[in-house]
Formats: sequence, structure tokens, C-alpha cells
Amino acid sequence: MRRLLFGVLVAVLPSLAAQAQSLVGALEWLPPGSLSVESLTRHPEEQLEGGEKQSFYVDLGRLAFRSPDVLGGTARKAGLSCQACHANGFATTAFFIPGLSNKPGSIDVSHAFWNLRGEDGIDNPLEIPSLRGVKTKDRFGQDRRTASLRDFTRRVIVTEFAGAEPDALLLDALIAYQEKLQPAAAVYEPVSLRQDLADLTRYLDALRVPLAEEESALAERMTVMIRSQIGFIHERFADDDLRGSRGLLEEWSRQLAQIALQAEQGRWVQARTARADLRQAIAKPPAVLAADLPRSLYQPEHLKMWLSKPVR
Ligand code: HEC
Repeated sequence: MRRLLFGVLVAVLPSLAAQAQSLVGALEWLPPGSLSVESLTRHPEEQLEGGEKQSFYVDLGRLAFRSPDVLGGTARKAGLSCQACHANGFATTAFFIPGLSNKPGSIDVSHAFWNLRGEDGIDNPLEIPSLRGVKTKDRFGQDRRTASLRDFTRRVIVTEFAGAEPDALLLDALIAYQEKLQPAAAVYEPVSLRQDLADLTRYLDALRVPLAEEESALAERMTVMIRSQIGFIHERFADDDLRGSRGLLEEWSRQLAQIALQAEQGRWVQARTARADLRQAIAKPPAVLAADLPRSLYQPEHLKMWLSKPVR
């Protein structure tokens, strides 16, 4: 669809937010009325084949699936990742962007809003599919034109969402993760701080691999992705008086930046020690986070109020 008003996008926003993980990015870059409190505070349980212990490929893919910087253009700026539309591998049924969706759970992915080069000149929102059981499929997309999950995933990143050409490892990882999404009934659970912190420890476990291999480019890439996940948690502690929690999260993010720097400088021993220390700190976080939680945007009522305020 062509006629989306770019100028309107930064306007005022009463009930903003589809399931984006970045509240602030969505407020700034998606049109008013885009997102729902529902999809920001509840999602289907993940249920990966093989449970939580997974290979590095799956864990890297899991992180990349949640990382807006895998995509480009507006999606990245709005903080949208694969996870925004395919929450935990299911379809995000409440996803809705005015002008790009014709009903909740649909979206036009061949639109200049995402990628000027991908615009097909047709108003054609498609239903977001669940990726559950995608491993067993032999054709992808509603037009069934693509026979390889790898080709389809590359197309999603580059053609639909204007991302940079993914390298082989990133694609391997995204495929490995998607192949673990076995068919399952969607059982909804709250989006929770507890789980977001558990995810951080999991990403830090995966970060051991490039630090052990002394692969600085991969270590750097992963720290960038992990820092944006910390940023999403940070956004949920939005109130002025939750400065303690925000400061703590900023400190963790700085430590990750430091690890990337140490990796770049070849100070591997320090980088590995810093990773282990940070992993431990996150596994037993200071009490301030739990104390601030009731006033954070993990609480649906607070999130609703926050979204209804004028642009900050
Ligand atoms: C803004 C929402 C949105 C985002 C972000 C998004 N998708 Fe999708 N996805 C869709 C829609 C809509 C379709 C249906 C497209 C079609 O049929 O051509 C789809 C289709 C797919 C399919 C085909 C499934 C099938 O059964 O045919 C795969 C695989 C997929 N997406 C993976 C991904 C991955 C991996 C990412 C991140 C790199 C991603 N998607 C990001 C909306 C999204």
C-alpha cells in the first residue's frame, strides 16, 4: 500500500503500540493506534522442542529473532523484530498498524513504509502466520513460491524489512531457532521481568562461545543485540522515581560495552571474567528491580496510563 503518511507518524498517540518490544521506538515511528496493551503484556509461552538447553546456534537465533537490528529501515527504528509479529514463534494476533493492517493480526509486508524498494503498489495486508511447525513445510509464504526457509528468511530481512544482507552464521542461527518451534497450542502468560532477566542470563551464556573462540566481530555483534534487550527492560522502568532500576540496567549495558571493547582489543581473559561476573549479577539482581516492579510498565494498568499520555 502506497499512501501512508510519513508526516503523521510522529504525531500524538492515545493508545499506541502493536507488540513491539521497544515502547519508545514504537511511539516515535509507528502511526497512532498501532499497538495494544494486550500484546505488550501477554504472549504465548515459548515451548521450544528440547526445552531450554539448546545449541549455540539456536540460542543465537533466539536472540537474533528478538533483535530489531537484524532488520533495517522503519522496523528497526520502531524496535520491531521477528518476535513482534511472531511472538514466541506464534502469530501475534493483536498486531495492527493503521494503514498497513486490514484487521488485527495482518500486515502489508510489501510496503514502502518498511522498504522503499519492496513497495509493490498493491494494498495487500497478509495474515501473520504462526511459525510453529515451519520445519516440516516445503513451501513458504502465502504465494508458496519459496521452497527454502533460508531463502524466505533472507527475503524477510533484506527485501521486506530493508535489513543488511545477513551473514551465513546469522541465517544458520535463525533457521536453527525456527526449526525448534514445534507445533503447540498457544498458552498465554504475562510478559514478565522474571522471564526477561532469565533471557538475559541465557544470552550471556551464549556470549561465552565467541569469547572462548576469540571471535571479536561476533562478540561485538552479540553485545549490541543483548544491550538492546536490556534497553527494552529499561523502557519499562519509565517513571521518574524508578531511577535506581534504570541506573542498574544502564550499568549492565555499560559492562557489556566494556566486554565488546576488551574483545576488540584482544583482552580475552578480562572479557571472559567480566562476562561471568555480569552473568552472576543478573542471575541474582539487586532488590531494587523487584521493589520497583509494581510501578513499572510490566503492569498492564501502568502501561495503559503511560501509553495514553501525550508524546514525551
Ligand atoms: C511486521 C510483521 C512481521 C515481521 C517483523 C516479521 N514477519 Fe514473518 N511474516 C509476516 C507476515 C505477514 C507473513 C506472511 C507473508 C507471506 O505470506 O508472504 C510472514 C511470513 C513468515 C514466514 C513464512 C511462514 C510460512 O509458513 O509460510 C516465515 C518463515 C517468517 N515470516 C519468518 C520471519 C522472521 C525470521 C522474521 C524476522 C527476521 C520475521 N518473519 C519478521 C509478518 C512479519
